[in-house]
Amino acid sequence: MQTLSLIEAAALTSPNPLSLVCSRTPAGITNLATVSWWTYLSLAPEIIGFAMMKTSYTGEMVRASREVVLTIPGTPLAKQVMQCGTSTGRTRDKARDFGIDLTDLPDCAIQIPVHSVLAIQASLREFVDVGDHYFYICPVQKVYANPAETPLFAWKGYAKIAAAQLA
Ligand SMILES: Cc1cc2nc3c(=O)[nH]c(=O)nc-3n(C[C@H](O)[C@H](O)[C@H](O)COP(=O)(O)O)c2cc1C
Repeated sequence: MQTLSLIEAAALTSPNPLSLVCSRTPAGITNLATVSWWTYLSLAPEIIGFAMMKTSYTGEMVRASREVVLTIPGTPLAKQVMQCGTSTGRTRDKARDFGIDLTDLPDCAIQIPVHSVLAIQASLREFVDVGDHYFYICPVQKVYANPAETPLFAWKGYAKIAAAQLA
């Protein structure tokens, strides 16, 4: 066995999960951030979690509004997933600038990309300091699905975005 950093290890666990975390800015804009470090945490009650850099605008929005929608992007969004993961909502409207069509969910102030496989609407229960990231623990309110879309994953660590191949 050889020793590796965690970021190097991620290349060996590809394909890695991928989400677009949707949050609402004070101007009412839906901001989209690419997040691989998300996980299911509990089934009863239903809880998900995700880790985001302390400096992320998304984290700031979720800590303020205590609302979030975690979506799984479909294949038409492969290019935009990388764009949303390399720019910040502090300085731009990503959905508008990257041509991502958004749609509403019932009883939710945050919009989601049309090409989503899943949308998990959740609230923020607490966030935990885990080094350079905060880990957000979020009870689920509703889960919406569009099985006609094919989910994207992160490959070569986080360098390439593509669908998974069938085993
Ligand atoms: C494939 C990919 C996966 C990413 N996964 C994460 C992640 O799990 N956690 C995180 O904090 N940032 C992750 N990022 C980086 C954020 O998306 C990036 O910092 C983004 O600019 C945050 O946007 P915001 O400032 O609008 O929140 C990832 C980027 C890419 C391209």
